[in-house]
Amino acid sequence: MRSTVISGIGSLVTNDPSLGGGPLGLLSDAAVVVADGRIAWVGPAASAPAADEGFDAGGRAVIPGFVDSHSHLVFAGDRTAEFNARMSGAAYTAGGIRTTVAATRAASDAALDANVARYFAEALRQGTTVLECKSGYGLTVEDEARALRIAGRHTDETTYLGAHVVSPDYADDPAAYVDLVTGPMLDACAPYARWVDVFCERGAFDGDQARAVLTAGAKRGLVPRIHANQLTEGPGVQLAVELGAASADHCTHLSDADVAALAAASGTTVATLLPGAEFSTRAAYPDARRLLDAGATVALSTDCNPGSSFTSSVPFCIAVAVREMGMTPDEALWSATAGGAAALRRTDVGRVVVGARADLALLDAPSHVHLAYRPGVPLVAAVWRGGERAA
Ligand code: NIG
Ligand code: FE
Repeated sequence: MRSTVISGIGSLVTNDPSLGGGPLGLLSDAAVVVADGRIAWVGPAASAPAADEGFDAGGRAVIPGFVDSHSHLVFAGDRTAEFNARMSGAAYTAGGIRTTVAATRAASDAALDANVARYFAEALRQGTTVLECKSGYGLTVEDEARALRIAGRHTDETTYLGAHVVSPDYADDPAAYVDLVTGPMLDACAPYARWVDVFCERGAFDGDQARAVLTAGAKRGLVPRIHANQLTEGPGVQLAVELGAASADHCTHLSDADVAALAAASGTTVATLLPGAEFSTRAAYPDARRLLDAGATVALSTDCNPGSSFTSSVPFCIAVAVREMGMTPDEALWSATAGGAAALRRTDVGRVVVGARADLALLDAPSHVHLAYRPGVPLVAAVWRGGERAA
């Protein structure tokens, strides 16, 4: 078992407040020892134990790898024309999902797999070491199961989203589509999925339908998460809390009662904010400050998909969250690492603590604050995943 000591870390985010250094457990002049894919030691560089190999961070910052808990990457084609129309004034309605469904159904397994690999690699280069991935552009039994099989080659965090929108094949009978999603489609998909998700929104699925989808998934051992309150206020957040979902994602249009519910459920249901979607649809951003001040647990993720948010960049989302959503740089960094881990109910990632998976990103910067301070600059200089140099 070879060990590596990463020394010369000017600023280390551990997300372990017991080390001092505030909620981020910030250490300066630090070192980390990695062995057997795990963090074996964390502390002051001056007292670091010897290791087989060394890496000198040269005074730069090291952070936990980003945990991106929300993406839709099994798709084919793109929606450049829709984006162009939107930037000329058209509204986002999520109706374009059907365009991607047609392209995805027509694509080969190999083409879809290559696409997923490409976006996972793109995310990794930007510091993402855990990436959740949803189905939802197949909307038939075979195409949803295929999407999850392909996603599962790239991540353990696979999410069954047969209830993305009503399949065009069932436009005249949405109830029959819900029966399919909660019946044969679930049977085919459950073996390949960890999570079940539903787009609870006007034009997609209402509260009763969303409840049916999530409870059916839960009966098959899938843990609920939900697209909630993205385009309008609705029942999604309350349903997430009631069902003990791992996260309520988007949370853009919240009533005071929704905020209070998320705060009361802060140990169970994470509010996952996805500012790439508001950026790319020219919509008002969610109010992270309101959620944080109320005591909710907040995660920050990309929502990478070809329609509403075609970015794989967590650093971009951090910069937007700080500039537009009232988050401090420290809060945004926590939400994109430990917050994402909480949304995926993971304790082995998102923190640099002994025993955690050795997922680290080296920044070409003296501190994590530069992720927001220097927007659009590719600051991720190196990435380790499971102790291996991955980018
Ligand atoms: O999270 N809201 C629903 N699903 C995606 C959008 C998918 C699409 O437009 O293709 C989202 O924003
Ligand atoms: Fe999404």
